[in-house]
Amino acid sequence: MILTLIAPSILSADFGRLAEDINTVESAGADWIHVDVMDGHFVPNITIGPLVTDAVRVATDLPVDVHLMIESPERYLGEFVKAGADRITVHQETCPHLHRTLQQIRELGALPGVSINPSTPLSALEEILPDVDLVLLMTVNPGFGGQAFISNSLRKIEAAREMLESAGRPDVPLQVDGGIGPGTAKSVVEAGATVLVAGSAVFGHPEGAAEGVRALRHAIGEAK
Ligand code: DX5
Ligand code: ZN
Repeated sequence: MILTLIAPSILSADFGRLAEDINTVESAGADWIHVDVMDGHFVPNITIGPLVTDAVRVATDLPVDVHLMIESPERYLGEFVKAGADRITVHQETCPHLHRTLQQIRELGALPGVSINPSTPLSALEEILPDVDLVLLMTVNPGFGGQAFISNSLRKIEAAREMLESAGRPDVPLQVDGGIGPGTAKSVVEAGATVLVAGSAVFGHPEGAAEGVRALRHAIGEAK
């Protein structure tokens, strides 16, 4: 059985105490730190860049998982790797030469991932599966934390799981992002997801971020 990984998204952390918030989730058993990079073009919001990614790198020993929601991501890959990204995920919708972009990430020394929006069909990933180290299915429209999980995503997760199995890549992490919390975690894991990104459910937990991580683990019925 693959143990489910939990990747808190710092988008919902307190940026005035970022290192402290990261230490809290690390001690509570988080597996990766998810960094949401937005450019105000591909998505309406603007968030963080390589500088903050570097601060995340300094704050933790956990893998730094960078999710680029930006146009022309190939222009910034080197900077994010230099800032300490272990994984870089780009959106299929932003990459006309996706294969080349994924190769660039790998050549720079990070693990390449590919993400698709809720409205993008899974078939957009078919040709690229041999070249990816992570598949990220958006379960909300990217841009903001705290949105409701799109329930039709469950069917898409199941189909993605089948696609990875039949492509002979069952071990590629299948990540879900958006609206993941104690109420949705179990169903996405049952559908085949193996990495849960959660922002508001972790950092917005009324009893603190450590409890937010524990609540997710409890919801999926796995101890760590
Ligand atoms: C959405 C981002 C997510 C976001 C998730 O555009 O990619 O990582 O932070 O936030 P929650 O978990 O609050 O839906
Ligand atoms: Zn994300």
